[in-house]
Amino acid sequence: MHISIHKTTNSSLSTVDFSDLPFGKIKSDHMFIVDYSDKKWHSPRIVPYDNIPLSPATSALHYGQAIFEGMKAQLSPSGVPLIFRADQNFARMNKSAERMCMPTLPKSLFMDGLTQLIALDKNWIPKGDGQSLYIRPFMFATDDSVGVRVSETYSFIIFTSPVSPYYAHPLKIKVADKYVRAFNGGVGAAKAAGNYGASMLPTKEAYSQGYHQVMWMDGHEFRYIEETGTTNIFFVVGDKVITPALDGNILDGVTRKSCIQLLEDAGVTVEQKRVDINELIEAHNQGQLLDAFCTGTAASVMHIELFNYIGEDIVLPQVAERQWSNYLHKKLDAIKCGLEPDNHGWILALNETATSSS
Ligand code: COI
Repeated sequence: MHISIHKTTNSSLSTVDFSDLPFGKIKSDHMFIVDYSDKKWHSPRIVPYDNIPLSPATSALHYGQAIFEGMKAQLSPSGVPLIFRADQNFARMNKSAERMCMPTLPKSLFMDGLTQLIALDKNWIPKGDGQSLYIRPFMFATDDSVGVRVSETYSFIIFTSPVSPYYAHPLKIKVADKYVRAFNGGVGAAKAAGNYGASMLPTKEAYSQGYHQVMWMDGHEFRYIEETGTTNIFFVVGDKVITPALDGNILDGVTRKSCIQLLEDAGVTVEQKRVDINELIEAHNQGQLLDAFCTGTAASVMHIELFNYIGEDIVLPQVAERQWSNYLHKKLDAIKCGLEPDNHGWILALNETATSSS
């Protein structure tokens, strides 16, 4: 499908202070939009980033048919834009769409829109340490009707934002004892906007008690760990790395699966299983809980300083002593910037051939 391109005549690039990039606040010059109606996607276009007109009855605003993804692009040492594992985000977007009864996107449309947008705004990719161009694809229902039914019309948009790291310091986490993020049969595995809306109150309450994020637990017993904040979670117990298995409630994180692969490449056993918090407390008491860290596109690999469980702070070792989270953080960043070999074909390099269709 041909993508029409309308370039801005009023770039704001020169006004951006790249030494101060608060996460998600600054938007690059252009966005990609494609609309869905009459059971097909049509009118793909790249246009200047701007507000979008919406009816007050837009069904996504009322009934939550809204999903999104998060991806990142960085520059190689020679200045080629590199996008990390775009195929995985594409696949997950369509899984979320299916769960939320929304239309799926053809891969070529997603990839062409993405690559042409990033190629056009490649000067927005920041070069500073830990910085990247955050890419936000999202889809929402646009029917102009307050009837509760599956929308017949949708928009899919990608915009980008130059960012610094999402978290500036290791995290203090409160283990949930009242609220749940997801429940069996629900939408925990989908990147549905409502999952994030539902997390606001628990997170605000945890914050008021001195914690940065919530550790989400299973909704039956508050015993098995699922995720933390907006990220997946890993623990190092003795010589093993453990992470909650994907059970339908947990997001199939792209950074999560990349970390598992890198650990296995390094000869580390990664157990994906139900992670009982009592097992971790026991390991901590025996001096075997060596590391805990979160993984996500925005967060990358972030250390957990401590987690509070039933009133007790379980304090993890000093960050400098954390073997595997430090290893993963460095390794992933190096692969994403083209400083280490891309042994698994994770990087899409936007050299001339990759963007020739534009
Ligand atoms: C991401 O890691 O991309 C996320 O979705 C987290 C957050 C910015 C919502």
